[in-house]
Amino acid sequence: MADSKALLRLPGRGEFIDRHSLIVRVTHWINVLCVTVLLMSGLHIFNAWPRLHWGQVSGSSADALFEIGSRRDADGRLAGFTRIFGHEFVTTGVLGVSADARGVMQGRAFPEWATLPGPYWLPMAREWHFFFAWLFVLNGLVYLLHTVCGHHLRRDLLPDRSDLAGLGRSFVDHLRLRHPTGTGALRYNPLQKLAYLVVIFMLLPLMTLAGWALSPWLDAVLPGWVNLLGGRQAARTLHFAMACLLCAFVLVHVFEVLASGVWNQLRSMLTGRYRLPGDDHDRRA
Ligand code: HEM
Repeated sequence: MADSKALLRLPGRGEFIDRHSLIVRVTHWINVLCVTVLLMSGLHIFNAWPRLHWGQVSGSSADALFEIGSRRDADGRLAGFTRIFGHEFVTTGVLGVSADARGVMQGRAFPEWATLPGPYWLPMAREWHFFFAWLFVLNGLVYLLHTVCGHHLRRDLLPDRSDLAGLGRSFVDHLRLRHPTGTGALRYNPLQKLAYLVVIFMLLPLMTLAGWALSPWLDAVLPGWVNLLGGRQAARTLHFAMACLLCAFVLVHVFEVLASGVWNQLRSMLTGRYRLPGDDHDRRA
């Protein structure tokens, strides 16, 4: 993000700052591509064994913490169900049973439109998943090097005392959909900083680690380390849970982008240039 030196006045168009560095912008969009492909191909791989367990080996359907499946109902029709910690929900149409590209209902955990590739083709889904996983790791390392070794972490992401003091107010502002304007928009707000830090330094590394724990090759290189995560099946459950949390973050994140001036936000993440909204709600409040 920018400091005051980067303020640029364009006659008739307002004040702009150079909000995001080139590395942050490029790694952000490579990340969006990777996360999208990883999620869709990951759902495809999940479909091959649509149950989650804890521990070293997978047990029966009754022992599963989470399961998506299908069965015939009393009328002989396919019905989809999702079971979470023993609580079962009918999810026909989306989870368990859904229409394929030709509109024919079929039994599969996640629907064709949500997976990559669409029709069942497990080896190809794994090719997509592994290629984009390594791209995601390399891209993450470039971002981390830039963020930790440069000014980005200290200047833009780490909360200072005033951020911590303003956390409650930032929370209320988010609930009321009030976004900082004027000078308040120059920096990330406290809640935004916390969310980015949790995603960058906890969620994404844990998701990657749990993914590595699923690789027989990495297990063989350093025998036994998978047990630190609770075993192979526990790692699979953690990997899935982190992916769900990441989806929740992305939904809120994209909602915030839409709610706080979508074109200005997108322009800043594409070209770096962010137009300062004239009014400052901090002064009015
Ligand atoms: C289509 C989806 C997405 C859009 C439109 C989008 C848009 C944006 C925008 C506009 C910003 C800058 C916010 C600001 O300056 O106040 C931003 C920052 C950020 N986004 Fe996204 N984003 C998307 C998906 C994602 C995903 C999938 C992730 C993580 C997995 C992510 C992680 C982040 C992070 C960590 C930052 C802070 C970057 C930094 O300053 O170092 N975004 N995003």
